[in-house]
Amino acid sequence: MLQFRAEVFKYLIWFKKNRMTALIERIQSYVQKQFEHEATGHDWFHIDRVHKMACFIQDKEGGNREIIEIAALLHDISDHKLNGGILNAGGQVAFDLLVENGADEKFAQQVKEIVDGVSYKGAQVPDSMRTLEGKIVQDADRLDAIGAIGIARAFAYGGNNNRPIYIPDNKPQLHETFESYVSSKSHTVNHFYEKLLLLKDRLHTETAKKIGLHRHRIMENFLQEFYNEWNTDNLINE
Ligand code: ADP
Ligand code: NI
Repeated sequence: MLQFRAEVFKYLIWFKKNRMTALIERIQSYVQKQFEHEATGHDWFHIDRVHKMACFIQDKEGGNREIIEIAALLHDISDHKLNGGILNAGGQVAFDLLVENGADEKFAQQVKEIVDGVSYKGAQVPDSMRTLEGKIVQDADRLDAIGAIGIARAFAYGGNNNRPIYIPDNKPQLHETFESYVSSKSHTVNHFYEKLLLLKDRLHTETAKKIGLHRHRIMENFLQEFYNEWNTDNLINE
């Protein structure tokens, strides 16, 4: 009898694991189709990198792997930058999609909380994450906004939104509300001071902090070179 119960228990764990793997695969191919033709720096490859980075961080830091994977895949599913400007819509979209695909509501709610909280909302707007799973997904997303790829994404986003590369007299602002941050029409170099250079100190996990430090330096070096080239008085030193 004991043997039989152990077998049933093993089968249930196997069944649950398989069901979860199938759900992750289904969500992954759905998101891949949704983001295929995006060219604003929120393309499928961004989602894929965030998913893989989140798995890498989870390997070192722990946390529920399934929640982390699904939240990473769905983190930009209805981002205000892509959905016509509706703030905080993504969590509900993620929740509905998961329940439609057979996930239980408790699981879908945990993912919703992460998707709702993941975005940067302005230099002076708090964006803390309650759970380790949320911290890991936010770290992974933020690491993809900094470093060499972060620089490429910022200028891709800026170009797509008709933002100039740089206007020297137009100074950065440390936004106090999400609304003022998202409605800003500033040039892209300002975005480094309004967000990207601040991210290193807003990472949660030790694993992400280590990676973030290197990526931060890449941006500092880039800006230094950028200003050197901008300043045509320096031409004599070229
Ligand atoms: P978040 O949810 O924290 O905004 P995302 O994963 O949605 O992060 O990525 C946003 C991307 O868009 C980042 O790479 C960021 O640099 C870029 N971006 C957002 N706002 C601007 C802006 N005003 N100028 C340039 N790039 C921007
Ligand atoms: Ni993202």
